[in-house]
Amino acid sequence: MAIERTLSIIKPDATARNITGQIISRLEAEGLRVIAQKRVWWKKKDAKAFYEVHKGQPFFKDLITFMTSGPIVLQVLEGEDAIAKNRAVMGATNPVDAEPGTIRKDFAVNLQRNSVHGSDGPETAKREIALCFKKSEIVG
Ligand code: CMP
Repeated sequence: MAIERTLSIIKPDATARNITGQIISRLEAEGLRVIAQKRVWWKKKDAKAFYEVHKGQPFFKDLITFMTSGPIVLQVLEGEDAIAKNRAVMGATNPVDAEPGTIRKDFAVNLQRNSVHGSDGPETAKREIALCFKKSEIVG
């Protein structure tokens, strides 16, 4: 297994409920290391650029509205097999389908307010990290 980097977002439903620390603890407990982190409030253009791949989907407009409704925490996570590991800790996109003990099972409200995002593959991770962080902001 290789050491990888992946982009993680703690979404507005989670920052509103003051559970960012609990979410980060779950990631760290699985061996993922936070090597970049910032709390931001996205403008519509930021959210649209990030979720460009979903443009045209019926949920796109609501997704953009939600992701700009409050602060979010952007993070780069590093570790062995970090992309798959982060997705395993997060659980399925829809909390109804998520395994017990995953972040989304325990914290997500519904499919949209699902508390966290994680890159879904190496190319996506590279793109998302570059979109959210300057090289100088990543301190491994
Ligand atoms: P995320 O992993 O951030 O990627 C895109 C987001 O769109 C997803 O989590 C969900 O929160 C949201 N979303 C809303 N409706 C849907 C849907 N029908 N299918 C997939 N994602 C959806």
